[in-house]
Amino acid sequence: MKDLVVSRGGSLNGVVGIPGDKSISHRAVMFGAIADGLTRVRGCLMGEDVLATIEAFRSLGVKIDTRNSDCVKISGVGLRGLRSPTSSINLGNSGTSMRLLAGILSGANIDATLEGDSSLSVRPMGRIVYPLRQMGSNIQMSGNETSPLRVKSARTLNGISYLVPVISAQVKSGLLLAGLYAEGVTRISEKGRSRDHSERLLTKFGVKLDINGNEVSLDGGQSLTGCDITVPADISSAAFFMLGAAISSESEILLPQVGFNETRNGVVEIFRLMNADIEVRDQNVSSGEPVADIIVRTSNLSGVNIPQELIPSAIDEFPAIFIAAACAKGVTVLRGAEELRHKESDRISVMADGLRNLGVKVETYTDGISITGGNMSGGLIDAHGDHRVAMAFAMAALKASGTVSIKNAEGISTSFPTFFEVAKSAGLRIK
Ligand code: S3P
Repeated sequence: MKDLVVSRGGSLNGVVGIPGDKSISHRAVMFGAIADGLTRVRGCLMGEDVLATIEAFRSLGVKIDTRNSDCVKISGVGLRGLRSPTSSINLGNSGTSMRLLAGILSGANIDATLEGDSSLSVRPMGRIVYPLRQMGSNIQMSGNETSPLRVKSARTLNGISYLVPVISAQVKSGLLLAGLYAEGVTRISEKGRSRDHSERLLTKFGVKLDINGNEVSLDGGQSLTGCDITVPADISSAAFFMLGAAISSESEILLPQVGFNETRNGVVEIFRLMNADIEVRDQNVSSGEPVADIIVRTSNLSGVNIPQELIPSAIDEFPAIFIAAACAKGVTVLRGAEELRHKESDRISVMADGLRNLGVKVETYTDGISITGGNMSGGLIDAHGDHRVAMAFAMAALKASGTVSIKNAEGISTSFPTFFEVAKSAGLRIK
């Protein structure tokens, strides 16, 4: 899937099966590994990012049985049962693996080096390393605050009260996990609400947390108990199909049992503000996570000023939202989103370059973008290895007047290994 060629036009129709949520899959594996007893994970995403987490825990001495990918079995070793790996741990493209593992390893009396691919090696790690050091972690990073991270066994960690300067579930989760190993209380506050999967899943594993608005705290020393988890479909992957159905003619798709956690479903709110025809049905709860069926039909989109309070709950969906904006009537403006520059690629600049290649009028700011909707031509896009950029531009072909070719699209297998087959069977003219 290094290069994609998507012919123009077509519609999306039918029931579209979306793989498991990446954030929840990572956490299910990690928490299962440090729990006591067996954890069974149904619907675990078997994408490269989660596979990197699985391999990391195998190298830390945890038995993880993936022979039946419908039911991954993790034989937990308990909070203190991990052992130091014999070589450095490579986490590929996965920021979630690196930042959450940094928290666990800081407390687990482990010597380990965490490294990643060329994208992960330039992503900011100071945001997790500095507060972990405040807790007593013996963790080093590179001079420019990036990985590799080197963790050496520390004495005991101590709990801290910490206001995370950027809204980040990865930082919050990494610190809470370190907090499990710490003496006293670890209290994490945020200026907005990041995804709360760690809080929900830790509760399922028997950990007691206190949640008060945007502040969460836990007592150190609590153990986790293995359990059964069903992972919902990933709303971040579903978002590309919502986009595709909304911008193409004669489309109607059903996305079954998609995670519909309010800290994640900002994309549905933003698409609705843009006048998308989206119906949410059969809302229920599975393994502590809200899920719903989502139906999307052909829509006449209009440009909007994206409300800044929706940014955290739509943080991964802006590549899809930017393509929707290019297909909408009028101008869409996003400000207050500098964080997009620190994702798997600099998503403001990479998306702006790609949109310009399709003839779309775009202006960028340090913290955002302004996109004037209108006609899109075909063209060549460089996805820079970023899975979400590649999938968003693949969907753009449904509305473009020519073929959209996407190079460096291999990142798609990090989060959506079946994208090609699923998109093709829904109606995308993808090669
Ligand atoms: C994630 C949190 C978000 C998100 C990432 C997954 C997680 O990152 O962008 O794709 O699983 O906790 P930040 O916490 O850095 O905002």
